[in-house]
Amino acid sequence: MAKLWGGRFDGQNEAWIDAFGASILFDQKMAAQDIKGSLAHVKMLAHTGIIPREEAEQISAGLEKLQTKLTAGELEFTVENEDVHMNIESYLTAEIGTVAGKLHTARSRNDQVATDMHLYLKEVVNQLILKIQHFRNVLVEKAAENVHTIMPGYTHLQHAQPISFAHHLLAYYEMLTRDQTRFTENLQRIDVLPLGSAALAGTTFPIDRFFVANELDFGTIYANSLDAVSDRDFILEFLSNSAIMMMHLSRFCEELILWCSHEFSFVELTDSFSTGSSIMPQKKNPDMAELIRGKTGRVYGNLFGLLTVMKGLPLAYNKDFQEDKEGMFDTAETILTSLDIMAGMIDTMKVNKETMAQSTESDFSNATELADYLASHGVTFREAHEIVGKLVLSCIQRGIYLQDVPLAEYQKIKSVIGSDIYEKLSSYNAVKNRHSYGGTGFDQVEFQIKAAQSQLQKE
Ligand code: ARG
Repeated sequence: MAKLWGGRFDGQNEAWIDAFGASILFDQKMAAQDIKGSLAHVKMLAHTGIIPREEAEQISAGLEKLQTKLTAGELEFTVENEDVHMNIESYLTAEIGTVAGKLHTARSRNDQVATDMHLYLKEVVNQLILKIQHFRNVLVEKAAENVHTIMPGYTHLQHAQPISFAHHLLAYYEMLTRDQTRFTENLQRIDVLPLGSAALAGTTFPIDRFFVANELDFGTIYANSLDAVSDRDFILEFLSNSAIMMMHLSRFCEELILWCSHEFSFVELTDSFSTGSSIMPQKKNPDMAELIRGKTGRVYGNLFGLLTVMKGLPLAYNKDFQEDKEGMFDTAETILTSLDIMAGMIDTMKVNKETMAQSTESDFSNATELADYLASHGVTFREAHEIVGKLVLSCIQRGIYLQDVPLAEYQKIKSVIGSDIYEKLSSYNAVKNRHSYGGTGFDQVEFQIKAAQSQLQKE
């Protein structure tokens, strides 16, 4: 079959070499964007008088027909036509004849493919932002139901101090808010039109790039044609933002997996987000959370893949760029679905409030309360720390907790200790009393929830 670029070639490529060079198996995901870009380009060609209006209309009508066929799933793409751009052009030729050949005036596949990717990512990131927002809403709702749910806060995965479960959920809300901001900023770099840069140097035709930008609803256009066709920063930024977001989801999933274990039993995921075992009838596994944790690896890999592809490329276009797509598609699909799963999983999970609270009652996570009590009664914090440390050790040896130590013993240790120490030692009060801004105190958590709700409402 003759190639669209076949003029200066005598010989023919063998099929397996064509297959190696082709991108159609994956770049067909941008077929709708490719047609959209072509429609704007041809409109501009007529508007500037570069091609006659009737011919432009014929081309537009042909492209619109292809668009309908594409939506109906009637376009079959072939490896012989190499990529999405040439597949569409060859369908257009079949549809309207040789006039289709005028579409590629003042354009190259280099600015065309870049435009397709800008259009594709713009749609993905806008969709993504809505999904992050939805997940943030779910987190805030769950937090509002759990302000008074007490759980152990951890450092080194050891019980540290009691916290409100809402506070823990809101920490993820904050991370996801930063993720959303990063994607919103990413949009500024995505919203730039490369079309009109042609192969690398611009064109001798009197094109109107601003007209095309307006047609395609781009905020601005690339200032330098070499940069326009060889910039993949906007994809790298997307991949990097995605890697950071997946890291957040993965940390959360790791916690969910721990919390679902028999040892913790803090939460139970609904059946729809769990799976069973083919051999062990009792099993209920948090597979979806494990998969999000696992898929974080491929999202990191996609970022490093493209960074590595880019690092040695001279200006301007190089075929290496074709390797930019699969990781981008894979990342987009992975993160969009992961967000849906996270939101569903958190929305429907059962929180075992009793178990969570109980696990802060048979531990020493109230040791800081005792040290703070002493420090606020004139003992230096260092001395207080030493005293409490020694007492914890003796409690461990005796198999009791700080709340079990008799008042007489406390007063022997330090006479400033009064009977009010016992209420300070309760984990509920340990949480309640942390009024410092951004702390886990109920008033602070309620303030965070209100701030988050009004923020979400504003967006
Ligand atoms: N399939 C190509 C890619 O994805 C399109 C651009 C081809 N340009 C070229 N000069 N060979 O990068």
